[in-house]
Amino acid sequence: MKHIILTGFMGSGKTSVGIRLSYRLRRAFADTDRLIEREQGKAISDIFAQDGEEVFRKMETQMLRKLAGLKEPQIISTGGGLPVRAENRPLLKALGTVVYLKVSPETVYERLRDDTSRPLLQCEDPLSRIRELLAAREGAYREGADVTVAVDGKSFDVILEEIEEKTK
Ligand code: S3P
Repeated sequence: MKHIILTGFMGSGKTSVGIRLSYRLRRAFADTDRLIEREQGKAISDIFAQDGEEVFRKMETQMLRKLAGLKEPQIISTGGGLPVRAENRPLLKALGTVVYLKVSPETVYERLRDDTSRPLLQCEDPLSRIRELLAAREGAYREGADVTVAVDGKSFDVILEEIEEKTK
């Protein structure tokens, strides 16, 4: 069972690329954030505010274990912090081919500057926070991935072709 799993920082395009890839490959699409929200009956920002980040991280690990039961090969988009937990990285790889969408802090900032749905970026200086978090996470993204696709300045078509080529 080989799923294609998309990882990467917030704003790297995991969901928008994943939906397009699912059309292109005619496979179902799943997104760990949306699955957790549906299961919990509340938004990620409410889970962070009411239960705390650590509880959310445990939910992510549980969700990865549940996804191991999927029958058909799917495209799976993941929350931006999911590969940071060491125990999640082998779980990700066991699901299929993990594609790390690599993005620069500046692109993330441009894409998410007006977004209020990411609790980790609701601060005085989001660009500095993005830089710090990305630098701290880069190693985990690389270690947890089979292939890396840089996304800055590329169209969806180019990104999709690169993913198809690298996951053949
Ligand atoms: C997070 C990324 C978010 C979501 C949560 C935490 C992170 O997902 O899981 O807000 O730690 O980077 P997206 O990458 O889909 O925005």
